[in-house]
Amino acid sequence: MSRPLEEHLDALVGKLDLSRKVRLLTGASHAHTYAEPAVGLRAMTFSDGPAGVRGPSWDDEEPSACLPCPTAVAASWDTGRAADAGRLLAAEARRKEVDVVLAPTINLHRSPVGGRHFECLSEDPLLTGRIGAALVGALQEHGVAATVKHYVANDSETDRFSVDVRLGERALRELYLAPFEDIVLTARPWLLMAAYNGVNGTTMTEHELLDDPLRTRWGFDGVVVSDWRATRSLAAASAGLDLAMPGPDGPWGEVLRKAVEDGAVPESTLDIKVKNLLRLAARVGALESVHAGRPAAVRAGRDVRARLRAAAADGTVLLHNARAALPLPLDRVRRIAVIGELAEHPRIQGGGSAEVCPAQVVSPLQGLRAALPPGVEVTYTAGSYLDGDPGPLPAACLRGENGGRAVRVRWLTDTGEEVRTESRDTGELVRFGSDVPQGAAAVELTTTMCPDLTGSWQLGFRGAGRIMFEADGRTLHDEDVPSAHDGPGADILTPPVRTFDVELTAGRPVELRVRQRIPAGGFALSFRAMRPRRSPADELARARQDARAADVAIVVVGTSSQIESEGFDRAHLCLPAGQDDLVRAVAEENPNTVAVVNAGAPVLLPWRGDVSAVLIAWFAGQEAGAALADILTGTAEPGGRLPMTWPAHTEDVPVLDTRPVDGRLPYREGIHVGYRAWLREGVEPAYPFGHGLGYTTWELVDLRQPAAVRHADAPDSPATVVTARVRNTGGRPGKQVVQVYLARPGSGIDRPVRWLAGFATAHAGPGETVELDIPVPWRALWHWDSQADEWAVEPGTFDALVGFSSADLHKTTTVDVPAGTQATPGGTPISQQAGSPRER
Ligand code: BGC
Repeated sequence: MSRPLEEHLDALVGKLDLSRKVRLLTGASHAHTYAEPAVGLRAMTFSDGPAGVRGPSWDDEEPSACLPCPTAVAASWDTGRAADAGRLLAAEARRKEVDVVLAPTINLHRSPVGGRHFECLSEDPLLTGRIGAALVGALQEHGVAATVKHYVANDSETDRFSVDVRLGERALRELYLAPFEDIVLTARPWLLMAAYNGVNGTTMTEHELLDDPLRTRWGFDGVVVSDWRATRSLAAASAGLDLAMPGPDGPWGEVLRKAVEDGAVPESTLDIKVKNLLRLAARVGALESVHAGRPAAVRAGRDVRARLRAAAADGTVLLHNARAALPLPLDRVRRIAVIGELAEHPRIQGGGSAEVCPAQVVSPLQGLRAALPPGVEVTYTAGSYLDGDPGPLPAACLRGENGGRAVRVRWLTDTGEEVRTESRDTGELVRFGSDVPQGAAAVELTTTMCPDLTGSWQLGFRGAGRIMFEADGRTLHDEDVPSAHDGPGADILTPPVRTFDVELTAGRPVELRVRQRIPAGGFALSFRAMRPRRSPADELARARQDARAADVAIVVVGTSSQIESEGFDRAHLCLPAGQDDLVRAVAEENPNTVAVVNAGAPVLLPWRGDVSAVLIAWFAGQEAGAALADILTGTAEPGGRLPMTWPAHTEDVPVLDTRPVDGRLPYREGIHVGYRAWLREGVEPAYPFGHGLGYTTWELVDLRQPAAVRHADAPDSPATVVTARVRNTGGRPGKQVVQVYLARPGSGIDRPVRWLAGFATAHAGPGETVELDIPVPWRALWHWDSQADEWAVEPGTFDALVGFSSADLHKTTTVDVPAGTQATPGGTPISQQAGSPRER
């Protein structure tokens, strides 16, 4: 920000009295800040989240593009792909008049059981930082603010509101802060979110880390916003927190005003926060007096679906491909058995605040049917039932009267009088805080469902609190439903489900009604239904039969929202609901079985040696099925490489437990996380970090010796560059990810066996050679010296091992660090550097 702008912002702050300043520092609602006409400030709109922009309300009548989940984006190992995700988010944000997107989530996959990893990028700080920076850069280039979150060490979900993470300075600096540092230094995000958890005894919204290194060393000049309801007390006002969200209630307000009047908090502290907020407003075009800056709105264009499809394919990881089972030999395939409930009802996104309402979803079954040439028959059977909750009422069974909309919503007063009525296409209703019609004390949904099958249906609702549910006038439920999970927002993000067995006849309509007393803080209410099911044994027998009769079996397996979602961690790494038995059974019947894994983070694949190919499709977004079909048919190549280590057995996992003891979660492993920990333990995972096969083969032809490292001229300049030439030795065009790992044999300090120091993606046709320059950032060479409380570098020779995964290294060169090289200026506080970008 230029000096005249800074002076202008100071002048605006000077125009505000104490009450107005205080008001600005707490949200006006769940998703908005306050406007302040006295300084020409309009309200700013915030929205989650990493895999799409939901908009200020959670409403399936205002759909959003649903991107592949962040692990899938990171799995592309392609900063260009991440930038495209950023551009799409920007276009969606501008379309929905959103100023601030609450993304990216850059916490690390410390333990594979972390429940929210689908939303984070990887287990490695460098990969996370590089992908995150590309996304932030592209988002902000189009005038939409990014929010890097959750600062810091919010790497698991158990007791997430209160857990006190205990970790040493080296792990903190070298791992958990590192992606934040990279993104702040290189992409200059306009916001950062302070996490719910504590670090070494202090809750993050009050932590000194919000000042040092964030503002002092890194020069962050944006807004520090609290995670939703993470502001505990007045103490956060004296720390680096600028904005307490959501509002209008919160621990600041009147209490903060009084504290300033009493002299407990200097008014100048508030001035800094308000100025940060106004600087953000200037950046997103919310400040009347600052016209320059915000670029014209970027539009997503007509190709959104194609971009989402390409992104999903580019993140898909082919782990194993025996006898070149993939792409499918379509000239020889006449019949394909598609098996698995997730093939028909895929999980396209993780659950929780990252969820968006997509306009359409392409399932694997639909995608494949659309992509296959005529003459190839596709059969489908679920094979096993995920123990997931019953889904929404099937759209095919909903019919509005006279072609109208199917669901009637009535907002009612305490005494049952109507405040408002509306009609909707689906019975999915979510409201935050006070976002309900004035005077409404209850809400009621009614619809007529026309069953398409005769038999025992499960019918019910999803919601928490006092709820009444009836079918054809018969009350099946009328009592309190306790929350399924703890913590603020849990009833909205992960509400419980209640269903009842109801005998229905195909074609005979049934009237459904659900009514809820509206709780303070918002609610989520919807109908739920599950069609009659065959017995598990019958279902499995059908799957066997389909598999036996087909040339190829595609079995889609994965996690359910009950085991992988925001707000809790996974209890184990197994696939739920007998899906392992399903894959084994299918593989027994058909030697050409392809397993597709629909999960956001690792699950155990005990049958991986029994199937001919394994694809990790992640939560691939709304075009999941189209992308999968592209990969199966060979129209696209699986471009992904694992952004985390994939374990073979739970007991092998070096860092597993995420359960705090007495409120504390010690990170005992220190700097040895992810592949670093696996390498140190000498245990082989099922698939190593960085692994993935495309449809062609590659050779690492040669490396050029990188130039010796000198002082970094700027904190974000590379220390040196490794140049690699790779050749596509196969018969198809393809993509390869070339990875550089550093090692320091005989080092005087505790180090990982090796650590990722750079990567680049190559695209080449058959026989073509590509030369890649892979920058090695200065940070990859420095270590945190806990004694000196400062960055340091160990002069001498580092090995640079180059290859196609952390365990598939083909050639080695060296990076020389001459004696006397110092960890500056990257290690020096930005405020002490000449030409500092920091102006506060
Ligand atoms: C999540 C954040 C999210 C916020 C607002 C919180 O529960 O941790 O990531 O941005 O809610 O929805």
